[in-house]
Amino acid sequence: MYFGVDYHPEHWVYPYAGTPDNPEARWERDAELMLQAGFNVVRMGEFSWGLLETEEGRFDFSWLRRCMDLMERVGIKVVLGTPTAAPPLWLAKKHPEILPLDKRGLKMYEGTRHAYCMNSDIYWDYAKKIVRAMATALGDHPTLIAWQLDNGIGGHETEYSFNEETRRDWHAWLRAKYETVDRLNECMGNRFWSQVVTDFAQVPMPMHAPTVHNPALVLDWMRFSSDTCVAFIKCQADLLHELTPNIPVTHNLRAMTRHFDHFDMAGVLDFVSIDSNATVKSRAAENACEIDMLRSLKKENIRTPDGDVGFWVIEQKAGHVHWQDVNSLVRPGVVRLFTYQLLSRGASGVLYFFWRQPRIGSEKFYGGVLTHDGRGNNRVFQEISQIGEEMKLLAPVIRGTRVMADVAILYSHDNQWCLKQPMQPTKLFNYREHLQLFHTALHDRNVPVDFCRPTEDLSRYKVVIAPSLHMLASGEADLLKLYVQNGGTLIATCNSGLVDEHHIVPDNGIPNQLTDLFGMEVLEFDPLPQGEENHLSFKGHFPTTHLHPARVWCDIIDAKDTQVLATFTKDFYAGRPAMTMNSFGNGKAIYIGFMSHQAFYYDLVTWLRQQFNLFPLIKVPDTVEVSMRQKDDTKIFFLLNHQNSPVRLQFYKPMHDFLSGQTFSGNYDIPPHGVLVLDEHIPAKEEALEVEGAGEPALA
Ligand code: GAL
Repeated sequence: MYFGVDYHPEHWVYPYAGTPDNPEARWERDAELMLQAGFNVVRMGEFSWGLLETEEGRFDFSWLRRCMDLMERVGIKVVLGTPTAAPPLWLAKKHPEILPLDKRGLKMYEGTRHAYCMNSDIYWDYAKKIVRAMATALGDHPTLIAWQLDNGIGGHETEYSFNEETRRDWHAWLRAKYETVDRLNECMGNRFWSQVVTDFAQVPMPMHAPTVHNPALVLDWMRFSSDTCVAFIKCQADLLHELTPNIPVTHNLRAMTRHFDHFDMAGVLDFVSIDSNATVKSRAAENACEIDMLRSLKKENIRTPDGDVGFWVIEQKAGHVHWQDVNSLVRPGVVRLFTYQLLSRGASGVLYFFWRQPRIGSEKFYGGVLTHDGRGNNRVFQEISQIGEEMKLLAPVIRGTRVMADVAILYSHDNQWCLKQPMQPTKLFNYREHLQLFHTALHDRNVPVDFCRPTEDLSRYKVVIAPSLHMLASGEADLLKLYVQNGGTLIATCNSGLVDEHHIVPDNGIPNQLTDLFGMEVLEFDPLPQGEENHLSFKGHFPTTHLHPARVWCDIIDAKDTQVLATFTKDFYAGRPAMTMNSFGNGKAIYIGFMSHQAFYYDLVTWLRQQFNLFPLIKVPDTVEVSMRQKDDTKIFFLLNHQNSPVRLQFYKPMHDFLSGQTFSGNYDIPPHGVLVLDEHIPAKEEALEVEGAGEPALA
């Protein structure tokens, strides 16, 4: 397993470190300390273009090679970042047309990272040149194990620019998609506000304008911009696959922040890497949701440097960040806890951001493994060194294991882009919140979850949850029907199937193309003002622990002949269905026509567990997070205490903890921020038949 750090050797030369005689002297000490911390990999180079090509065509990779040589000598492997996220100043001076224009057509200037238009041919040419030169100079280095392509693509909202070259590519993209102007007008609904075009060249980019642009156009613009980001990364991937075929490529991704299709992006990478800010967020379930989402981007054809499955965390924050209003220190034990959360949900490589707090630049007050003084006796260094020791024990145990889920949550970027647009039925609806309500309920009840696009093969999941698929393409609807027909259980919600893939509202009933699947139709929907609620009455079939209200959104449903699980109790739609269940083929299609509070989603998960045989991994108090990685008969349980106080666990049969080497039975108090990595003996098949309760959790 790879465990390491993001290293910027270019920050640590004379006069910031080293001596006039030996400007790079500090690197040796860094390597020593890295070994002490248990690191076996560094990522380097991702912002170093201006130091590698100081003038056009004048390359100097020698310093980076010297650093790689040193790493090789001490046995540390290297992931090299292609440096295209920070183009050199000479390039912007020579070709100011590479600089991106914003929505108002104003230039965004050089002098920082990401100052480039991704549709600029000139930029692509120069980017390809530096990537080729880097691969030629360093691609054969024995310590190189992976490439990271660019860095944080789309960061600082640079996914789209409004340059003339962007306009050119936009028009070409539209032409390829629609082929004729008539079809474009028709699909985009350009008769509205008479925005019809007679030539592709007339189609506007959604620039600053008196009011909103056509949402169908904006949706296509997002798709186009996403394709641009993916193409830029793919161009580098293709080049490196050609030049260094044995070295896998990756990119650092974040959940739900950047505006490109992350599934598409993962498709052009050999393995997914993620940036994690987990340590600065307080809610474990939100982090877990993001990790599950990113893990799910690439479920097959994974090629990691050591042949393991899973994903890498290429930037796990080692401490505090510098972009909040108040950047408090991360408390002792928290970096360790969140490192284990990432591992527990499938990470097979972890690197911290970053090695040492820099003395220069805009990130100097960001937390690092080392503090500015570089002595290596600071608190975080010690905590991470402890993790390093533990990784040596754990690496062989978790190798080849993966997270297996019976439940999937559907998620698509196209849908997210629709939901982000203005002029929605209600501003109070928040997609992330809606997804999170389901994910939190599953997470807190220790039911593992994958995320899937609606177009994926869903047949391996017992239950599929589709929160607010506002945009539902006909093809997607067909696949969902097939899934249920073949025995799956699908749960959909309010705000689904309101528009098709062209952003056109269906005229044959909502949810688009799915009224037969759910055996019902949404006739109207009633968004509720802030603080207002309707009440729900549940039928005996669906046991509840609370009086659950409906909030934000209420669908007025014509249930036809389908089973009604709950009704509204207030307003002119009192007594009308709020939640239904339909049998379709061999499966069930459940519809929830409202949003509620978290407690409802807990009850939903309890009910689903009973109805559809979903087993929680292990029973523990709610405040302890449980995940499991498995391979064949091996099951490794991770128990994480996210509280500041100890939590009592009860072991019904002895369990072995890999970290402490202890075997627990009876009561055990897991300490504040404590972590256990346990295994359970799984009896062979014949044995299992005889052992009562085999497969039941060993804890209560
Ligand atoms: C990452 C980026 C790093 C660093 C970090 C700060 O996305 O890759 O270079 O800037 O954000 O949060």
